[in-house]
Amino acid sequence: MSSKLAPSILSADFSKLGDQALEATRAGADYLHIDVMDGHFVPNISFGAAVMKSLDPLETAPYDVHLMIEDPDRYLGDFVTENTAFITVHQEACVHLDRTLDHIRSYGVAPGVALNPATPLGMIEHVLDQVGLVLIMSVNPGFGGQHLIPYTLDKIRKLRDYRAKKGLDFQIEIDGGVKADNCEAVADAGADILVAGSAVFGRDGITDRVKALKALI
Ligand code: DX5
Ligand code: ZN
Repeated sequence: MSSKLAPSILSADFSKLGDQALEATRAGADYLHIDVMDGHFVPNISFGAAVMKSLDPLETAPYDVHLMIEDPDRYLGDFVTENTAFITVHQEACVHLDRTLDHIRSYGVAPGVALNPATPLGMIEHVLDQVGLVLIMSVNPGFGGQHLIPYTLDKIRKLRDYRAKKGLDFQIEIDGGVKADNCEAVADAGADILVAGSAVFGRDGITDRVKALKALI
């Protein structure tokens, strides 16, 4: 079974955001990954809901929202649109994770939970039957263009095996450092959705790069 591709607009040319989001969509992107950073949870600021919503009039792939922010409950509603497929929060940012996942579900959106590379899978064991997506960070969040940390593939394999053993059905997503030369290994490890930022955007040739990655996974 083939994996899905979620290009991250973090690496897009923001002066051409609509065109680039549409180009990635038409080339076969399954989701648009929306990286929101607050300068507190991660050491960088990206953009907020207004930028994401500027894409609403276009027929882009569904939004896969990745909130790298503290106190995400304050802002969840801002990211709910007809095109929002997932809203993912970080376990490390949620003192009351169970409640926050409920809050996302109350909007009719599938909740996701993300783990930083060093956070063990056990931290989310008890909520795995409540989520539509588990996002395994394969870099320390905050910046595009970093190298994939190899041990995170073991986390993906363990999570895939655990999901099968328990009969659960969330999607497994990997985020960070995914490129043409490692995407097959990442997909083989068990990632259902691969995020790719700098491997897709930032220069001409978005269509070719999306198609090349999709063909590999
Ligand atoms: C990292 C972000 C990632 C990032 C991926 O903090 O969550 O989604 O943009 O970018 P690449 O693919 O360039 O590592
Ligand atoms: Zn992300």
